[in-house]
Amino acid sequence: MGSDRMPDLWEPAGTYLNTASYGLPPKPAWYALQDALDDWRGGRTSWEHWGIPGEEARASFARLVGVPVETVAIGATVSGLVGLVAASVPEGTRVLAPDVEFTSLLFPFLVHQHRGVSVRTVPARDLSGEIGPDVDLVAFSAVQMATGEVADLEAISLAAAEHGVMTVVDATQAVGWLPLDAGRFDVVATHGYKWLMSPRGTAYMAIRPERMDMVVPQAAGWYAGEDPLATFFGRPLRLAESARRLDTSPAWYMWVAAAQSLATVEQIGVDTIHDHDIALANRFRAGFGLEPGNSAIVMSDAPGASEKLASAGIQAAVRGGRLRTSWHVYNTAEHVERTLDVLGA
Ligand SMILES: Cc1ncc(COP(=O)(O)O)c(C=O)c1O
Repeated sequence: MGSDRMPDLWEPAGTYLNTASYGLPPKPAWYALQDALDDWRGGRTSWEHWGIPGEEARASFARLVGVPVETVAIGATVSGLVGLVAASVPEGTRVLAPDVEFTSLLFPFLVHQHRGVSVRTVPARDLSGEIGPDVDLVAFSAVQMATGEVADLEAISLAAAEHGVMTVVDATQAVGWLPLDAGRFDVVATHGYKWLMSPRGTAYMAIRPERMDMVVPQAAGWYAGEDPLATFFGRPLRLAESARRLDTSPAWYMWVAAAQSLATVEQIGVDTIHDHDIALANRFRAGFGLEPGNSAIVMSDAPGASEKLASAGIQAAVRGGRLRTSWHVYNTAEHVERTLDVLGA
């Protein structure tokens, strides 16, 4: 598929350049959600089948990041899933993280200061070089939401392996456009509502099997059982062997849409989406005289951007006084040209 010929599966009302904030659902996700909501409103069905899409989405996510489905837990937020890991690390764990890191990855560790868990932050680009004998765990985003900076995944995973350091990755701004091999890291948590174009409340955590036993399923309920439909009542504790033991019960309707969104990503292919997104991002960068980059998120200095874009009905974000545009599967070369025109770039 050519870079500007993605399937006609989206219906943005205008020029939408803000996927780093939230992604737009493909039509199959939108319609499946409406059907489920309609069934809910009318009380037309039982509920059990609303659990199936969560399992389909879990399997899609596992394929997208190249790990066995048994190693993927589902939950509602990145912070909730990472919180399980942070609550389970030993007292005195020394964490290394980027300094502008999103708080959903940092706060879960910072709240364990009373247990001697410490968090040292350094500029994102210095991360791999700072991994050494004084670090127990490195926590970082694969792609930074504030800047679009893509982490040097290769260098970080090599340095971490060399020093026996646990790796916890937030891939929320990556999975869906950046090919990522989650098997190289201990934990990869991802929210689906951005580049995976799902509703909020659909998050995933891939965990290396060797790390599974150390993480206490602090939020376990009926859905953490091997067969949730057989884990409704009474003792004894009977948790799933797989990462499902870390699940929280799914927000049914949201997962109905998520399963379709992830299926769409799989159908198109992450490599194809990557090339499409990067081609548009780089075309936009060129309009600002910037060198080609490796991210689907572009930061640029565009004075008065908020007002100009708002009056043209273009959705983007301003972060730290700079314009942040995000380029995804539903964007086209026309969007690039129109936005550059509006900005006078
Ligand atoms: C990198 C990153 N991680 C996580 C989230 C969302 O976190 P949570 O799922 O805890 O709400 C965001 C939202 O902006 C994000 O950009």
